[in-house]
Amino acid sequence: MLGKYCYNKIYNEDSYKAIKQLPDNCIDLIVIDPPYKLNVNTCENGLKSSNPVTRGMSQTQHELKKKNLHVGIDDELLTEMVRVMKKINIYIWCNKRQLKQYFDFFEKYECNFELLVWCKTNPTPATNNTFLPDIEYCFYFREKGVKLRGSYDTKHKFYIRKTNQEEKALYLHPTIKPLQFIKNFIINSSDVGNVVADFFIGSGTTAVASKELHRNYIGFEIDPEYYKIAVDRINGITAGGQTSIFTDFEQEEVIL
Ligand SMILES: C[S@@+](CC[C@H](N)C(=O)[O-])C[C@H]1O[C@@H](n2cnc3c(N)ncnc32)[C@H](O)[C@@H]1O
Repeated sequence: MLGKYCYNKIYNEDSYKAIKQLPDNCIDLIVIDPPYKLNVNTCENGLKSSNPVTRGMSQTQHELKKKNLHVGIDDELLTEMVRVMKKINIYIWCNKRQLKQYFDFFEKYECNFELLVWCKTNPTPATNNTFLPDIEYCFYFREKGVKLRGSYDTKHKFYIRKTNQEEKALYLHPTIKPLQFIKNFIINSSDVGNVVADFFIGSGTTAVASKELHRNYIGFEIDPEYYKIAVDRINGITAGGQTSIFTDFEQEEVIL
């Protein structure tokens, strides 16, 4: 048990509230993909309009705004995450607008850090006056004394891979992350039997990766629709009701 919560379960709850119920020092590793901070009211092309298309907002940006996935997270939640971790050991996906916040926050704990990069080979076409959306970042912070495990095959800082449209189609989440990336993070930064937490579990990628790697997991998802998708996925069912046993266990093509 983790306070009132159980291992190997995910909860349809707001992480800002739920994390307060977790005891101190109970988590070995956190892997999160929180909402990115996006400027969706004025797009990069500087145009303002109530119509997302004429404003230059992409379909994905529109979808993210609809689900409130454009607001970032605040330091209060990061402070709680530090409290629940045995030692700071955390992967955080982010965009360029969040790099400073996360770097400044963890610098005071004198953590070791890496900035991992996913370079997408087939980004969606950009609108006027912007670079292509072909990069995503993932910060890794670890406190002194946290050992890095893994192997030559799992410790790359740079992933070159096409966008994961197949997973998006199976699990209907706009920002689903490639399962193999998350498995690498877990292999590099935890041992079998450790507890891995994800406070923004989305379609359940961290839970599925943890389960396949024999770690214990706990996850939280605020959106009931995504929560159901994640529960089904953990149980081997796709959003279309098909068994997903072969898709999730398949090795993905990762060009390194
Ligand atoms: C970027 S997505 C994560 C996608 C995930 N990495 C995957 O592979 O499917 C962030 C998720 O966090 C959820 N979320 C946002 N705010 C939350 C909160 N306060 N508590 C719990 N979940 C939240 C959103 O509904 C969304 O599904």
